[in-house]
Amino acid sequence: MIRMWDDQFCQADLKIAELWQELDAESGDHTVSAIYDIMHENLAEVWKETHRVLVDGGIACINIGDATRTVSGKFRLFPNHARIIELCERAGFTTLPYILWKKPTTKPKYKGKGAFLGSGFLPPNAYVTLDCEYILLFRKGGLRKFPRNDNLRYESKFTKEQRDAWFSQIWELKGNRQTNREIQRRTGAFPDEVADRLIQMFSVKGDKVLDPFLGSGTTMRAAMRRDRNSVGYEIDDSLLPLIRSNNEEFIFSIMRREPKSRG
Ligand SMILES: C[S@@+](CC[C@H](N)C(=O)[O-])C[C@H]1O[C@@H](n2cnc3c(N)ncnc32)[C@H](O)[C@@H]1O
Repeated sequence: MIRMWDDQFCQADLKIAELWQELDAESGDHTVSAIYDIMHENLAEVWKETHRVLVDGGIACINIGDATRTVSGKFRLFPNHARIIELCERAGFTTLPYILWKKPTTKPKYKGKGAFLGSGFLPPNAYVTLDCEYILLFRKGGLRKFPRNDNLRYESKFTKEQRDAWFSQIWELKGNRQTNREIQRRTGAFPDEVADRLIQMFSVKGDKVLDPFLGSGTTMRAAMRRDRNSVGYEIDDSLLPLIRSNNEEFIFSIMRREPKSRG
């Protein structure tokens, strides 16, 4: 429910495009809720498939922000994280305690426009700024089983300092957002540190890490730098040169597949 992804959702599902077109002041809430529902139904296909391909005991990590948006003159929150938890549980996942990634603070907003001004200081019409994104964590099945004295697992051990920082609920990370504005704008890339931590927390050396939403290829790069294999999917082939240059230190192959037509 942020503008940046509208076109992609409209292409993925014609019903979404139709609903945006018919949106008017009267149909407002009802139509927007329908769009929101269908977007999540589309995403749920990925959660189902992720569940299918994960090993037993494997962990799925989903970085998602909630969204605020003014539609038909009404400002509201779209709590994506809550919807995704519900749909992942329906796909068979068990929900685990999640992480809140606190991003570099943007100024508090008033009606979604820049800093507080005038009546932004008067109760009750100012809004809390969304300055955290969620990193939702899910497990498939029970605890993952390893052979006794599995060397790769012991080689993947993290330190006490890493454990203390990584397994606390709030991560304050600046990362590469500032240095890579253009990539960030085009793909919604997260800092390498997000992928790097998650890969070390939830996989062992030699594992295969899947990213079904590659973007600029951050996850793939982090996985391979940590001695994991990696597979990724990206629907927007204009990002291919970026993915390639971000991963040029590794051996990888690219396969093109016609997308399944929908809608
Ligand atoms: C938020 S970005 C991921 C950014 C990534 N974590 C990074 O650091 O660059 C989501 C990506 O998923 C891609 N995408 C959306 N729907 C897809 C689909 N059905 N199959 C594959 N990729 C898809 C989008 O084109 C976009 O590049």
